[in-house]
Amino acid sequence: MTRHAGVSRRRTGPGSMSDWQIYRRLFTYVTPLWFMFALSLLGYVVYSAGNVLLADLMQFLLDSLDRSERVASGIISGIAYRYFDTGGLDRIEFARVAVPVAMVSMAAARATGFFLGNYCMNHVSRTLIHNLRCELFDKMLVAPSAYYDTHAQGALVSRITFNVEQVSGAVTKALKTVVREGLTVLALASYLLYLNWRLCLVFAVVTPIIAAVVAFVGRHFRRYSRRIQASMGDVTQVSGESISGFRDIRLFAGQRQQHERFRAASQYNRAQNLKLAFVEGLSTPVVQSMLALALATLVWFALSPDILGGFTAGSLAAFLTAATQLGKPIRQLSEVQSEIQRGLAAAEDIFAQLDLEAEADSGSHVTARARGALSLRHVGFTYPGARAPVLRDISLEIPAGSTVALVGRSGSGKTTLVQLLARFYQPGEGEILLDGVPLADYQLANLRAQLAMVSQQVTLFHDSVRNNIAFGSLAACSQAQVEAAAVSAHAKEFIQGLPQGFDTVLGEDGGGLSGGQRQRLAIARAILKDAPVLILDEATSALDNESEHFIQQAMDHVMCGRTTLVIAHRLSTVERADSIVVMDAGTIVAHGSHAQLLAEGGLYARLYRQQFAD
Ligand SMILES: Nc1ncnc2c1ncn2[C@@H]1O[C@H](COP(=O)(O)OP(=O)(O)OP(=O)(O)O)[C@@H](O)[C@H]1O
Ligand SMILES: [Mg+2]
Repeated sequence: MTRHAGVSRRRTGPGSMSDWQIYRRLFTYVTPLWFMFALSLLGYVVYSAGNVLLADLMQFLLDSLDRSERVASGIISGIAYRYFDTGGLDRIEFARVAVPVAMVSMAAARATGFFLGNYCMNHVSRTLIHNLRCELFDKMLVAPSAYYDTHAQGALVSRITFNVEQVSGAVTKALKTVVREGLTVLALASYLLYLNWRLCLVFAVVTPIIAAVVAFVGRHFRRYSRRIQASMGDVTQVSGESISGFRDIRLFAGQRQQHERFRAASQYNRAQNLKLAFVEGLSTPVVQSMLALALATLVWFALSPDILGGFTAGSLAAFLTAATQLGKPIRQLSEVQSEIQRGLAAAEDIFAQLDLEAEADSGSHVTARARGALSLRHVGFTYPGARAPVLRDISLEIPAGSTVALVGRSGSGKTTLVQLLARFYQPGEGEILLDGVPLADYQLANLRAQLAMVSQQVTLFHDSVRNNIAFGSLAACSQAQVEAAAVSAHAKEFIQGLPQGFDTVLGEDGGGLSGGQRQRLAIARAILKDAPVLILDEATSALDNESEHFIQQAMDHVMCGRTTLVIAHRLSTVERADSIVVMDAGTIVAHGSHAQLLAEGGLYARLYRQQFAD
């Protein structure tokens, strides 16, 4: 089965953890929930004891009918005759009362056991899933940026939604079945051994065969489960892309292509599910046939004269009832395999992400408020996995409080440089210092608290306008502060025009706003942060000249007293910077004031003349 070229592949290597390691690790999530777990076990013990006693009750009934037999040879009949007064009733009349009473009380006990077992086991597994899911999500919040560069969003999302549910399946259904049916098998087997151990030898022959079938099937289940997971990631990825990119898909007539990609991903998922179902469907009849064979042999032996002599009619019936009852739990145990294997495959994948290194944060330097002096010394950087360096030998001194503009052709490395300042990546060579302290020595959160950034790709959240401006650490800001920031960003006017003003809830990623409005909200957010270093990466690129002019005026006031880095293609916005750094192909090719650079007549002068050709 080949997969569509555009469909991503599973990245974590399968089989990196042994089954035993996975179980043990899953178990560490269960240990804190031991009370519920124990309660559930108790419930299942009661439930499976009830199953066994059903056979015993049958013996009581049949023995009571036959006047020549001993009546109190079973468990329930023993208890009944020992602890309850027969009151002069004959054995049938006594059984007529005792058996229904035993039936009802057993049913009640069984029902209670069933409820307790199921509910408490669900409690354990749902809590486990919740914890696992939250841990997975939290891991995403601290994953290094490089992780996002190499992992498709769809795969990450489906890990949290689909894979975690798979573990849930394994833990709820499988654990439930294994515990409940396992106990039932144990109880029935002990009962059979107690009735006649020699006959039980028949089971000793079939058990290894059943175990072999189950193990063989399990290996296949795991393989298919891994593929199903990966394909769910692809399904999520293609649908996510098609939803967010619906306009481009229609404009460029990409429906056919997306249709094919989605088909391929979903078809692969279907095929793997069918393979799983095939193996699953085949294994049950095989196990069942083995059991039927065992039962047939059992009857043949049971009816042989020397064994028959040791049985009453009642105990023979009890033996055969119990032996027949053994079939269902064994079948269920073998069926639950697929569930377990899915769960293990999913857990393996989840644990691989949980084991991921978080963003490096070993620095301990903390500053209340940096002055904002930046110096870059021979900084070089290559993206992980890329062949050529993006930045080479960048040296630059930015005094505290100054405004520096970064200009240069698209792809020259400007955004990369500011990403290094926020420590989204570590420079490969050289170092960057803030107030004379290497960035790596800062506590990560403290370092980022010193930066306010409007990134080239603005992110807005599905939340109110107010909460989008006062985001994260700014949540405690007063309404007056938020509004003042909105005024500086020239955003208040349009916000007031929204249906609920500052309380208007934005669509996903700012849906319903224009590009310039989105940028202005991001600028307001950065202004509100009031950090000593302000970075504006193409922050006004989507604005008209007039709005940009207004923002610049407001910004003059905001920039005062803080270090500001402005990246802009529109050179009119950088003319007034204290100094302008011109980058080309990852290096600094010129550095000076607007007038100096124009006089030099290099790349800057050329770019400037092109923009103002008319
Ligand atoms: N996450 C990434 N992984 C690998 N390479 C990247 C990544 N991001 C950017 N690059 C590459 O690094 C180079 C510099 O990109 P960068 O975004 O820094 O350019 P830029 O100067 O900001 O361009 P623009 O003016 O278009 O915003 C480009 O060649 C780009 O392909
Ligand atoms: Mg850029």
